Amino acid sequence: MKNLKLPQLMGGAVLAGLMLQAGVTHAAADAEAIIKNKCLACHSEEQAEPAQFSRMSHQRKSPEGWLMSIARMQVMHGLKISDDERRTLVKHFSDTQGLAPEETAGARYAMERRLNTMETYESSAFEEMCARCHSGARVELQRRPAAEWENLVHFHLGQWPTLEYQALARDRDWMQLALNEMVPQLAADLPLKSASWDKWKSMKKVPMAGRWSFSAQMPGKGDARGVMTITGGKRDQYKVKLEGEFADGSALKGQGSAIVYTGYEWRANLKIDGVKMRQVFAASADGAELTGRMFETVHDEAGMDFTAVREGSAPKLLSVQPEFIRAGSTEVLTLVGTGLGNKLSLGKGLKVMEELYRDDNKVVVQVKASKDAAMGTRSVSAGKANGASLNVFDQIGSVKVVPSFAVARVGGNGGSTPKYNAHFQAEAWMNGADGKAGTDDDMRIGFVPASWHVEPFDAQAEADRDTHFTGKMDAKTGLFTTAAAGPNPERRMSTNNAGNLKVVADVKENGKTLSADGQLIVTVQRWNNPPLP
Ligand code: HEC
Ligand code: HEC
Repeated sequence: MKNLKLPQLMGGAVLAGLMLQAGVTHAAADAEAIIKNKCLACHSEEQAEPAQFSRMSHQRKSPEGWLMSIARMQVMHGLKISDDERRTLVKHFSDTQGLAPEETAGARYAMERRLNTMETYESSAFEEMCARCHSGARVELQRRPAAEWENLVHFHLGQWPTLEYQALARDRDWMQLALNEMVPQLAADLPLKSASWDKWKSMKKVPMAGRWSFSAQMPGKGDARGVMTITGGKRDQYKVKLEGEFADGSALKGQGSAIVYTGYEWRANLKIDGVKMRQVFAASADGAELTGRMFETVHDEAGMDFTAVREGSAPKLLSVQPEFIRAGSTEVLTLVGTGLGNKLSLGKGLKVMEELYRDDNKVVVQVKASKDAAMGTRSVSAGKANGASLNVFDQIGSVKVVPSFAVARVGGNGGSTPKYNAHFQAEAWMNGADGKAGTDDDMRIGFVPASWHVEPFDAQAEADRDTHFTGKMDAKTGLFTTAAAGPNPERRMSTNNAGNLKVVADVKENGKTLSADGQLIVTVQRWNNPPLP
């Protein structure tokens, strides 16, 4: 992930921890009164029906995007507004000038705070001009006409004049390129008016209340499943209760409140087993599914992929847990979804020996895979419920560390920013028809247990004893806990606990050890932590 390169860029104190609250909001009609009261000191009302206002009426963005814009009015321009009023405006703008679901596809990782995502763009101009201080996703999650993209360019240079002297700017005529090349490109790719938004705006939105069967996967903990109960719905506000379990039998339980923006952007704050967690989900257009990520509010690196299907909607299989079985073995598999029918279809060579548990959302079976079961990914169904698959394999051919590159940050130690840890998983792969590991026809098996350790990434890291100072790797879980912030007198020149590590996973297979490695950069605090990276 690209980091903000100018630590002084934003009012860190105000922006740090700035989050969309799932709290009280006023009726949308109040929004106009707040705008007239609070914004028109600097902005102007335009001749239009219904009312329009300079700048703010000519852009569309995510709820997080609106939150950041209004927070900037506070931090940089001195807008005085209560948290409650800001919430009302974020809700109003997200609902009336948001993004259609298709318009967020491919950039949701930023809202879901998957901060190890490596962005790549076809346009190297875009990468160098617009995705070097912040994520490209921050840009992709906005829609504007050319005039508003142009205003944004002027705002950047006006606010941070030193921009032009930085690397990847002083080698070119930045302003000229931004206005004459980036603006037309942005206005063409990310236009204010779009058919998908017009369609989404006119669609009837489905309320979220109901019981939802969910399936999740969390590094260090593994598969999870259960039921999420959503109640309420007045002004798009809900209560949420989560009752589930991890594959190891430990509970996944808690409750909280949620708010829906733009008819499908689900944001919830929960307390799960005493830990504050946040859900960033998107609802499908038919209101039958919720998909996204649930993560710790303070430690957003600790999170799980999450999908849920509404009870009573069309039968659906969300997952088979675990998602693989070895030919010639007998395993317990859990099917998760809703409307799970009696007739299980696992494909040839797999036999249900015993049904251990069944309700509408979950079926637990003991399955025997014959030695000659066909290798590969197969679709599984339970009656009319389908949509999930199972990987049949005979041997692990290779292993990958996921993520292959991660950033952890020192922190804590009395400072204002927490440390950020790193979570790794070992992904097993089977060799394809060529019998070779690491070729295109390899098949993904799934996440398997591994034994973890770290090594110095290079000679410098070895000389500086990075493995000793930067933190501790849990050999069993793949969770790296980062060391504390601040100068360390034991290190060369009393430097901090930053470093460069190789992350190694060892997986035992047929008496051999298969190893894989990834890279972990341990670096300084995340001083700026805006809602969109
Ligand atoms: C004290 C003056 C001031 C007040 C009050 C103010 N703004 Fe702004 N606003 C600005 C300035 C200056 C800019 C252009 C620079 C920038 O984008 O930060 C701007 C730009 C904007 C933009 C465009 C941002 C972009 O990314 O292009 C939006 C949206 C906006 N304001 C919304 C609001 C809303 C909503 C309010 C009231 C809740 C408000 N502003 C109140 C000064 C103000
Ligand atoms: C010098 C670093 C830098 C570069 C280069 C840069 N940005 Fe930004 N950009 C920022 C910072 C810092 C903010 C945060 C402003 C705030 O506090 O909301 C920002 C905010 C934004 C926002 C959110 C504005 C809002 O209120 O909605 C968008 C969109 C954006 N940038 C797009 C771009 C585009 C497009 C380019 C390329 C033309 C670009 N940025 C280049 C630093 C940069």
